[in-house]
Amino acid sequence: MDLQITQAEFGVRPPVAKPIPEFLLEVGEEGIRELISKHYDLIKQSDIYHLFPQDDAAFEQAKLNSSDFFIQICGGQPYFTQHRGAPRMVGRHAPFAIDAKARQRWLELYKPLIVELKEQGVTETSLYSFWKYLDIFSIWMINTK
Ligand code: HEM
Repeated sequence: MDLQITQAEFGVRPPVAKPIPEFLLEVGEEGIRELISKHYDLIKQSDIYHLFPQDDAAFEQAKLNSSDFFIQICGGQPYFTQHRGAPRMVGRHAPFAIDAKARQRWLELYKPLIVELKEQGVTETSLYSFWKYLDIFSIWMINTK
Protein backbone atom coordinates (compact mmCIF):
# COMPACT_ATOMS: atom_id res chain seq x y z
CA MET A 1 0.00 0.00 0.00
CA ASP A 2 1.11 3.54 -0.70
CA LEU A 3 0.59 5.25 2.66
CA GLN A 4 1.68 8.81 1.96
CA ILE A 5 2.34 11.43 4.59
CA THR A 6 1.13 14.92 3.62
CA GLN A 7 3.64 17.70 4.17
CA ALA A 8 2.41 19.84 7.07
CA GLU A 9 2.55 23.63 7.02
CA PHE A 10 2.70 25.03 10.54
CA GLY A 11 -0.57 26.62 11.64
CA VAL A 12 -2.58 25.36 8.66
CA ARG A 13 -5.44 22.96 9.40
CA PRO A 14 -6.58 21.30 6.16
CA PRO A 15 -10.20 20.09 5.97
CA VAL A 16 -10.52 16.56 7.30
CA ALA A 17 -13.01 13.82 6.40
CA LYS A 18 -14.03 11.10 8.84
CA PRO A 19 -13.18 7.50 7.90
CA ILE A 20 -15.88 5.84 5.80
CA PRO A 21 -18.38 3.67 7.77
CA GLU A 22 -17.04 0.52 6.07
CA PHE A 23 -13.84 0.82 8.10
CA LEU A 24 -15.64 0.19 11.41
CA LEU A 25 -17.91 -2.41 9.80
CA GLU A 26 -14.90 -4.36 8.57
CA VAL A 27 -12.53 -3.94 11.51
CA GLY A 28 -15.08 -3.93 14.33
CA GLU A 29 -14.88 -2.26 17.74
CA GLU A 30 -12.53 -4.87 19.16
CA GLY A 31 -10.35 -4.59 16.07
CA ILE A 32 -10.06 -0.83 16.58
CA ARG A 33 -9.16 -1.32 20.27
CA GLU A 34 -6.49 -3.81 19.20
CA LEU A 35 -5.14 -1.42 16.55
CA ILE A 36 -4.86 1.49 18.99
CA SER A 37 -3.34 -0.73 21.68
CA LYS A 38 -0.67 -1.94 19.24
CA HIS A 39 0.02 1.66 18.16
CA TYR A 40 0.57 2.71 21.76
CA ASP A 41 2.83 -0.31 22.31
CA LEU A 42 4.94 0.82 19.34
CA ILE A 43 4.98 4.36 20.77
CA LYS A 44 6.43 2.92 23.98
CA GLN A 45 9.46 1.66 22.01
CA SER A 46 9.87 4.90 20.06
CA ASP A 47 11.50 8.31 20.40
CA ILE A 48 8.12 10.00 21.01
CA TYR A 49 7.36 7.99 24.16
CA HIS A 50 8.51 10.89 26.34
CA LEU A 51 5.40 12.82 25.26
CA PHE A 52 3.09 10.11 26.64
CA PRO A 53 2.20 9.01 30.20
CA GLN A 54 5.20 7.26 31.76
CA ASP A 55 3.13 5.51 34.39
CA ASP A 56 1.89 2.11 33.13
CA ALA A 57 -1.64 2.46 34.49
CA ALA A 58 -1.99 5.93 32.95
CA PHE A 59 -0.56 4.60 29.69
CA GLU A 60 -3.17 1.82 29.60
CA GLN A 61 -5.87 4.38 30.37
CA ALA A 62 -4.62 6.48 27.45
CA LYS A 63 -5.11 3.47 25.16
CA LEU A 64 -8.70 3.17 26.34
CA ASN A 65 -9.43 6.87 25.86
CA SER A 66 -7.96 6.87 22.38
CA SER A 67 -9.79 3.68 21.40
CA ASP A 68 -13.04 5.24 22.61
CA PHE A 69 -12.35 8.24 20.41
CA PHE A 70 -11.48 6.28 17.28
CA ILE A 71 -14.56 4.05 17.57
CA GLN A 72 -16.66 7.22 17.90
CA ILE A 73 -15.07 9.07 14.97
CA CYS A 74 -15.45 5.97 12.81
CA GLY A 75 -19.21 6.15 13.32
CA GLY A 76 -19.56 3.86 16.33
CA GLN A 77 -20.87 4.42 19.85
CA PRO A 78 -20.00 7.82 21.38
CA TYR A 79 -17.80 6.28 24.09
CA PHE A 80 -15.33 9.15 24.19
CA THR A 81 -17.97 11.81 24.74
CA GLN A 82 -19.61 9.60 27.39
CA HIS A 83 -16.35 9.09 29.31
CA ARG A 84 -14.32 12.23 28.60
CA GLY A 85 -16.72 14.89 27.33
CA ALA A 86 -16.38 16.97 24.17
CA PRO A 87 -13.56 15.70 21.92
CA ARG A 88 -11.69 19.07 21.68
CA MET A 89 -8.72 17.22 20.21
CA VAL A 90 -6.57 20.27 19.51
CA GLY A 91 -7.07 21.57 23.05
CA ARG A 92 -6.39 18.15 24.60
CA HIS A 93 -3.09 17.93 22.73
CA ALA A 94 -2.06 21.48 23.66
CA PRO A 95 -0.12 20.44 26.82
CA PHE A 96 2.21 18.26 24.71
CA ALA A 97 4.91 19.77 22.49
CA ILE A 98 4.02 18.10 19.18
CA ASP A 99 6.22 19.17 16.27
CA ALA A 100 6.19 18.03 12.63
CA LYS A 101 8.78 15.35 13.41
CA ALA A 102 6.71 13.88 16.28
CA ARG A 103 3.61 13.85 14.05
CA GLN A 104 5.57 12.03 11.36
CA ARG A 105 6.88 9.41 13.82
CA TRP A 106 3.37 8.96 15.24
CA LEU A 107 2.01 8.34 11.72
CA GLU A 108 4.85 6.04 10.68
CA LEU A 109 4.08 3.79 13.65
CA TYR A 110 0.61 3.21 12.17
CA LYS A 111 1.96 1.99 8.82
CA PRO A 112 2.84 -1.62 9.72
CA LEU A 113 -0.49 -1.94 11.55
CA ILE A 114 -2.47 -0.79 8.50
CA VAL A 115 -0.57 -3.31 6.36
CA GLU A 116 -1.38 -6.00 8.94
CA LEU A 117 -5.10 -5.17 8.63
CA LYS A 118 -4.83 -5.49 4.86
CA GLU A 119 -3.27 -8.93 5.30
CA GLN A 120 -6.23 -9.81 7.53
CA GLY A 121 -8.61 -8.98 4.67
CA VAL A 122 -9.70 -5.40 5.37
CA THR A 123 -10.29 -3.65 2.03
CA GLU A 124 -7.84 -1.07 0.74
CA THR A 125 -10.67 1.44 0.28
CA SER A 126 -11.43 1.34 4.01
CA LEU A 127 -7.78 1.38 4.98
CA TYR A 128 -6.97 4.37 2.74
CA SER A 129 -9.95 6.25 4.15
CA PHE A 130 -8.71 5.64 7.73
CA TRP A 131 -5.14 6.51 6.77
CA LYS A 132 -6.24 9.77 5.11
CA TYR A 133 -8.05 10.73 8.31
CA LEU A 134 -4.91 10.05 10.38
CA ASP A 135 -2.67 11.80 7.87
CA ILE A 136 -4.71 15.00 7.73
CA PHE A 137 -6.06 15.26 11.27
CA SER A 138 -2.62 14.63 12.76
CA ILE A 139 -1.52 17.89 11.09
CA TRP A 140 -4.01 19.67 13.37
CA MET A 141 -2.18 18.37 16.45
CA ILE A 142 1.13 20.03 15.52
CA ASN A 143 1.49 22.89 18.01
CA THR A 144 5.27 23.35 18.15
CA LYS A 145 7.73 24.56 15.46
C1 HEM B 1 -5.47 11.79 13.98
C2 HEM B 1 -4.76 12.41 14.91
C3 HEM B 1 -4.90 12.15 16.38
C4 HEM B 1 -5.99 11.74 17.11
C5 HEM B 1 -7.39 11.45 16.59
C6 HEM B 1 -5.58 11.62 18.49
C7 HEM B 1 -6.39 11.23 19.53
C8 HEM B 1 -6.06 11.29 20.85
C9 HEM B 1 -6.96 11.03 21.94
C10 HEM B 1 -8.42 10.64 21.79
C11 HEM B 1 -6.29 11.21 23.09
C12 HEM B 1 -6.84 11.07 24.51
C13 HEM B 1 -7.31 12.42 24.99
C14 HEM B 1 -7.94 12.39 26.37
O1 HEM B 1 -8.58 11.42 26.75
O2 HEM B 1 -7.82 13.40 27.08
C15 HEM B 1 -4.94 11.58 22.74
C16 HEM B 1 -3.94 11.83 23.61
C17 HEM B 1 -2.64 12.12 23.27
N1 HEM B 1 -2.15 12.21 22.00
FE1 HEM B 1 -3.19 12.10 20.32
N2 HEM B 1 -4.26 11.97 18.59
C18 HEM B 1 -3.81 12.31 17.33
C19 HEM B 1 -2.54 12.70 16.99
C20 HEM B 1 -1.49 12.74 17.86
C21 HEM B 1 -0.13 13.03 17.47
C22 HEM B 1 0.35 13.32 16.03
C23 HEM B 1 0.61 13.03 18.59
C24 HEM B 1 2.08 13.28 18.65
C25 HEM B 1 2.96 12.44 18.97
C26 HEM B 1 -0.29 12.74 19.71
C27 HEM B 1 0.06 12.67 21.04
C28 HEM B 1 -0.81 12.50 22.08
C29 HEM B 1 -0.41 12.59 23.47
C30 HEM B 1 0.98 12.88 24.00
C31 HEM B 1 -1.57 12.35 24.22
C32 HEM B 1 -1.70 12.34 25.74
C33 HEM B 1 -1.48 11.01 26.30
C34 HEM B 1 -2.65 10.12 26.11
O3 HEM B 1 -3.65 10.30 26.85
O4 HEM B 1 -2.61 9.28 25.17
N3 HEM B 1 -1.56 12.56 19.22
N4 HEM B 1 -4.84 11.61 21.36
